[in-house]
Order: sequence, then structure tokens, then C-alpha cells
Amino acid sequence: MSKTKIHLIAAARPNFMKIAPLYHALAAEEWCDPAIVHTGQHYDANMSDAFFRDLGMPDPRFHLGVGSGSHAEQTGGVMIAYEKICLSERPDWVVVVGDVNSTAACAQVGAKLHIPVAHLEAGLRSGDRRMPEEINRLVTDAISDVLWTPSPDADENLLREGVDPARITRVGNIMIDSFERMRAQIEAENAPAAFDLEPGAYGVVTLHRPSNVDDPDMLALLVNQLIGAAARLPLLFAVHPRTRNRLNASGLWPKLEQAPGMKLAEPVNYIRFMSLVRTAKLIITDSGGIQEESTYLDIPCLTLRENTERPITITQGSNRLVKPDELLANVEQVLAGKWPHGRKPDRWDGHTAERIVDDLKKRTRL
Ligand code: UD1
Repeated sequence: MSKTKIHLIAAARPNFMKIAPLYHALAAEEWCDPAIVHTGQHYDANMSDAFFRDLGMPDPRFHLGVGSGSHAEQTGGVMIAYEKICLSERPDWVVVVGDVNSTAACAQVGAKLHIPVAHLEAGLRSGDRRMPEEINRLVTDAISDVLWTPSPDADENLLREGVDPARITRVGNIMIDSFERMRAQIEAENAPAAFDLEPGAYGVVTLHRPSNVDDPDMLALLVNQLIGAAARLPLLFAVHPRTRNRLNASGLWPKLEQAPGMKLAEPVNYIRFMSLVRTAKLIITDSGGIQEESTYLDIPCLTLRENTERPITITQGSNRLVKPDELLANVEQVLAGKWPHGRKPDRWDGHTAERIVDDLKKRTRL
């Protein structure tokens, strides 16, 4: 009997820690053959290869090499390239994760070729259609056959949109599987020392959302707030390539670099980054995933966004939405010990990949 062919679509940095535990769990099964397909949306070594290495993944079986571009160029490029692979390989399942352009692109290719599509991290909604990711979530969930959700709010969003409950399985948060898989290495890493920081006495910053970094006025405001915060607590800012480009273009890079207490770094690989997060006093971010990782670790997370598609990190976790001009005041709250503690959401337990394998097997006609 031939094995069930499963394509796992990996594209951008936040996808890799979602694909890895699933790849490892599927690779241990007799009935299926998982293949990693890298679209090439992220291509810098420190945005891609370093994560494959850290997470123990093999080189992708297929690499589409699509790279950067406008939304249409990137999405269209991935569709054109992935359709060719699908036509020649005829996978039995296409598994897409998260909400990046490649997620929506590959889901569309699978759906139009009548190949069953499963979406991992389905049902999240920010309600903000100005975010490209929200469009990607809506499109992907509408056309995926199977919707694997991380939390009850995601189930509710899908049911409200009229999705047949038979398509939904709540599997939990796959990123926690990656953290637990790599916990020993993360704990052994001691990344703070590498940056001359003391555990418990620094903050970690990441920013890359177009709404924060593409608008020069907003970027300038955030830079001023970060400089103020760094004077109170040393900050390690791991700068995303999009953000680096914008800081350079607006002439803000030298100002930030020279600010007392501020350390600017290249994007950091997974093990090193989680080692930094684990012993941070606080996190300042606009990332989706880091809101969840900080909730799991009960670290104060100051999210520089107007909304979040991950509300459980606020209702149950240590995450709060923060207005840009109130960043410094919120940092003071953390330093004064006034930040609320959170708890771990249900099924954020390191066993999500197992639940997915069970569900996928049940839904596959072997
Ligand atoms: C993408 C995702 C976003 C995710 C983020 C994580 C979409 C719409 N956005 O945003 O949801 O949170 O990834 O990082 O899919 N660049 C490099 N090297 C790289 C990759 C990008 O230099 O390896 C630069 C290029 O100038 C590129 C820019 O960063 O134009 C933006 O990259 P892109 O993949 O379009 O979006 P991200 O901002 O990374």
C-alpha cells in the first residue's frame, strides 16, 4: 500500500516552529510520507536556515524560491510555483500553517486541484481587515477542508462564520510543542550572557508590522518610547529585515543604536531567542507568536497593536495591548511589579502534534 503523501508548507519565520513538531510526529508514522515545501518567502539565513537547524528539520524536499515582492507578486508567485509541484506530486493532503501570504496561496492551489487542505492555527481573527494576515486567515479558513484551532475563541469565530463543526478540531497550540521539544537546549543556551545581559533584568523587543514600521511618524514615536524604556531597563532589540530597512531609510538607526541601555541585534535563531524570552523581565512586540510564548511562560508582554487575533493571551495570559505613546508608562508598571499574572490556556501542553496526527489519520481513507 502506498503511503499518504502530506505536504507541509513552510514559508516565513513564524511558520517553522509550527511545522517542526508536526513534521517529526508524522515522520514517525508508518502510514504517511510528510514532505516539507519551502516557498522561499523568507530566505535570509537568519530568518530561515537557522530555524531549520535549531528545530532539527531536514532540508525542504521542494523549494519554490519565491522571495519578496508586493502582496500580489508574492502570493501569485507562490501559487504558480506550487501548482506545478502539486500537479506532478499529487499530494493527498496540503497542510498550511499560520497566516502569511504563502499560507493563503498554497491553500488556494490545493483547493482548486481538489486536494484536501488542512489549516493549522485556524479561526484566529483580529477583526482588522487592514492587516494582510487577516485577509489571509479569512481566505484560508473559507477554503480549507479541515480547521485545526488553538483555542475556544477560534472555534467560536468559525462557527459564527457558518463553518460546519465537522471541519473543526481543537488541537491546541503547536508552538508550545516546539518549546517543550527544545526546552533542554533552550535552558542550556544562556543567551543573556552572550549579550551581556543579566537574567530577569532586561527586556526583549521585536517589531515588524507594517502599521508600526512602515509609517515614519509611528516609527519615530516608537523609537522615542523605546529609548525612554531602555534608560529604565536594558533592552535587546532583535531587528527584523523589514524594520532595519525602515529605520535606515528614516535615519533613525544611529539614534536608536546610540541610546543608553539599547542593544540592537540581527534576528536571533529559535533556541537563542527563546532563551532570551524565558528569563526576560518583559517583552515588547507586535508579533503574533510571541504573545503566545510569553503567555505560556507568564512573562509580561506589551503588544504594540490596536487589536489581537489571539485574545486568550489577554483574557488568560500575561499579554496586554499597549498604545505606542503609553509604552514607557506600561514598562514602569511592570518594573513596579503591577503586571497581572496569567495561566496556561487549555491544550497548550506540548501534545498538539499528537492530536493532529490522530485527527489527520481519522480523516484519511487508508
Ligand atoms: C511576513 C508575514 C507576517 C509575519 C512575518 C514574520 C505576510 C503578509 N506577512 O511579514 O505575517 O508576521 O512574515 O517575519 O505574509 N526580507 C529580507 N529577508 C528575508 C525576508 C524578508 O530581507 O528573509 C525583507 C524584504 O525587504 C521584504 C521585507 O523584509 O520585502 C518583508 O518581508 P515579507 O515576507 O514580505 O513580510 P514580513 O514583514 O516578513
